[in-house]
Amino acid sequence: MARRPLIITTQPGWAFATLSELRTAGAGEEYVRFHHRDSTLVCRDGIPALPKDLSTPAEVFGEVMSSDSRRGEDATRRIVKLVRPDAVKRAVLDLLPYVEGTRPRRYSVVCETLGRTSVRRQDLALYVERAAQSAFPGWRRSSDRAVRIFCKADPEYAFVGVQLQSNLGDDDSGQPGALRRHLACGLLQLASIDAESVVLDPFMGTGTILDAALRQYQARAVVGFEVDSAAAEIAERRLNSGKASIFRQSFESLDTAMIDSHTRMVTNAPFGAQFERVDTRKLVRFFRECRQAGARITVLASREQSSHLGRGLGLRRKNVIVMGQPAAILYETR
Ligand SMILES: C[S@@+](CC[C@H](N)C(=O)[O-])C[C@H]1O[C@@H](n2cnc3c(N)ncnc32)[C@H](O)[C@@H]1O
Repeated sequence: MARRPLIITTQPGWAFATLSELRTAGAGEEYVRFHHRDSTLVCRDGIPALPKDLSTPAEVFGEVMSSDSRRGEDATRRIVKLVRPDAVKRAVLDLLPYVEGTRPRRYSVVCETLGRTSVRRQDLALYVERAAQSAFPGWRRSSDRAVRIFCKADPEYAFVGVQLQSNLGDDDSGQPGALRRHLACGLLQLASIDAESVVLDPFMGTGTILDAALRQYQARAVVGFEVDSAAAEIAERRLNSGKASIFRQSFESLDTAMIDSHTRMVTNAPFGAQFERVDTRKLVRFFRECRQAGARITVLASREQSSHLGRGLGLRRKNVIVMGQPAAILYETR
């Protein structure tokens, strides 16, 4: 493959988890942070291969072209001038063999602008669209299984890329509140799960976190609590192995004697329209007791709840967007 930079975008706020995973995968040291609170990484050099087994939320693009801002002109305006059909054609053809699961001769254009750029999103999309049309006159525009030409721009940095792979598509059990697997992996990544870890999810739901902990992170054992019997039943079926202990009980019945220094509590507290919210003071108390018993905590919570939890527990906090809702991850670095 021509050494075109890879551009890895994640959901806003998740780049920090992806970055550590990329480093572990040996993807090199040079990263340029991109807009929107570091939701995009540009990996310029030193990437030995595509990080195919990336499990935290990410989409990987091969770069068609990119621009920084120059001499007072914003990067989005500059990219509009750079988008030429011959350059688009050359780059797309170069990258095509690496695009996962596409049918050729179909393309779609997706465009995002962030921050105050001097070019409107629709205009930018139109420029890219026109360039793609004249580069590939025989191709059909289609969103179904098409080669996805993606454009992301803000005043500082802009790129046009071809999507090579994504792990944002897989879904869970369809149960309310079910966490997508890549989000579960993002939390497990932050919690540094390894073969010694016992992963505890006191709000287990259908068990997505625990399932990923066993399958993708080879955790030694998992423990879950859940009050909804339909969700617990799905989890029991999914986690049907000697490594799982499941309790159809409230988190409050957890006996802290079962916690030791290998315990990693990885969870998402109930929030959003479907769930009655658990009282924040109760949660702070519960998390504090678990920490005192030796557990390390990584929790995804609503933005509002997380500011209380973060303060009450002295955890680090990172804002993220989950299914369009403002949320935050609280985690520890010790
Ligand atoms: C956002 S979901 C958790 C998703 C889950 N972590 C996963 O990996 O799929 C929150 C879950 O907490 C459960 N829940 C609410 N109150 C609870 C309590 N007191 N004890 C245990 N679970 C509770 C809800 O029934 C719901 O299934």
